[in-house]
Amino acid sequence: MSETYELKQLETDVLAILAQHTDYRTIIDHVKPHLQKLLLNDHLIPGEYQAPLPTKYAQYLLYKSANEAFSVIAFIWGAGQVAPVHDHLVWGLVGLYRGAVVEKRYRREDHGEAAEPRYTIREVSEVTAKQGDISFVYPPDYDIHGVANPFNEVAITVHIYGTDIGKQPRHIHDVATGDSRDVVTKHDNASPIYS
Ligand SMILES: [Fe+2]
Repeated sequence: MSETYELKQLETDVLAILAQHTDYRTIIDHVKPHLQKLLLNDHLIPGEYQAPLPTKYAQYLLYKSANEAFSVIAFIWGAGQVAPVHDHLVWGLVGLYRGAVVEKRYRREDHGEAAEPRYTIREVSEVTAKQGDISFVYPPDYDIHGVANPFNEVAITVHIYGTDIGKQPRHIHDVATGDSRDVVTKHDNASPIYS
């Protein structure tokens, strides 16, 4: 059995990638195999963080680099819990650690500054992600999605973003009306699980 891939090694690997590349899609392609290894780490998330919260999905910061160039977050999805349609405005990867979630992808179609509405959000795909699957987001064209756990068991996803996503100003979109609102989704833990 190969050695367990730890967050400290991930930091070394991701910072090396960020030192060489600035294009979001290129960064994602290089980070992806490292997230794949991290998803195989059975000790990544302490047991007390694996239980869902009663009213919403839980968002726990696992680790962030000192310069906040990237962060690693665990999301715990209780049965039926949902994240509304949102963007990120930074590169990110979503790995399925336990259970399964449904991800719907959306595309923003701009109609010009003078148009009313200026843009519409259109659903383009729906995928059920299972253990080991990795999805990704990056602005401007591949940045909007919604995630849900419609299943009866808890799901856990592990995300890597190119900033501390708990501080990142971004948007929640109302697909039906085309409205969006500003949001910062803070972590549910005050300090990272690993430092
Ligand atoms: Fe997201």
